[in-house]
Amino acid sequence: MNIRNLKHHINWRDAWQEMRKERMGKPKVSYDNNFFNKTAEDFSKRTKMNDYEYGRKSTAILNEIVNGDCEILEIGTGPGTLTIPLSKIVKRVVGIEFSGKQINNLKANLKEANLTNVEIIDKNWEEATHDEIRDVFDLVVCSHFLWQVEDIEKLLHTMEKASKGFCAVIQPCGRDEVVGKIFEKMGNHKYTGQFEPDADYFAYVILREWGRLVNSRYFRYTIERDLEEQIRYMAGFIGRFLEVNTAVKKKIRDYLLKRSDSGRYIEDNNAVVMWWKPQK
Ligand SMILES: C[S@@+](CC[C@H](N)C(=O)[O-])C[C@H]1O[C@@H](n2cnc3c(N)ncnc32)[C@H](O)[C@@H]1O
Repeated sequence: MNIRNLKHHINWRDAWQEMRKERMGKPKVSYDNNFFNKTAEDFSKRTKMNDYEYGRKSTAILNEIVNGDCEILEIGTGPGTLTIPLSKIVKRVVGIEFSGKQINNLKANLKEANLTNVEIIDKNWEEATHDEIRDVFDLVVCSHFLWQVEDIEKLLHTMEKASKGFCAVIQPCGRDEVVGKIFEKMGNHKYTGQFEPDADYFAYVILREWGRLVNSRYFRYTIERDLEEQIRYMAGFIGRFLEVNTAVKKKIRDYLLKRSDSGRYIEDNNAVVMWWKPQK
């Protein structure tokens, strides 16, 4: 990667490190021993919501650059949010994922959708060998993945190396305001955006410094949860600052009950799709 000769550079590195410190790490949740299995199930269910709305809409945008002959590498598949809709329109998807729970959900979702053109590499993307991800892919993509990565330049560089066509990053923009409100209520301090999912702009700045021309589009999608799922969703954030025990769970529950008569919680979201042609 060649950094362009720009007189002034944006210092994104410090912001990246600081923001990752707040976002990463396992939340402390003690009200349910099975919390993490349930949140993995919630995630898989959310993925499939409205017939894979998030993945379908991402795929419709990516359809501009892929076709039925294409082979795709996806890093961090999760339960198949993007993998399932994408694999319906391309020849083959190779997905890298290191969580056993997510791989099991992905396999179940592939089976349910009758898809046989997805190969799973069960490992950390940083340990994938040259043979596994050499530059044979028409598209290398990651979705809702950037925050998982300490070294974002290394990720983008690895993606470019593995691609002979395009690279793409998909990332949700903004979080439902209820997350901030409940954080302020529980923690007694101001929400300053600690849990916002956006990270695409870091990739944009880096790629522009490398001289890449980046395309960008966004789409809207909806997530719906029942009360227990919504509590788990909140606990996943609150638990990074405060142990979510039975008493805290009750406070979250009481707060949420006031916000919905139907017991359903609907979140309208946006996500951005960015794609570019790598340079070797
Ligand atoms: C937030 S989820 C997103 C999943 C899916 N791509 C989506 O759009 O919903 C991130 C996924 O990346 C996986 N992951 C995180 N770090 C990873 C790594 N170093 N190697 C492989 N997979 C990783 C996690 O296990 C998780 O399933």
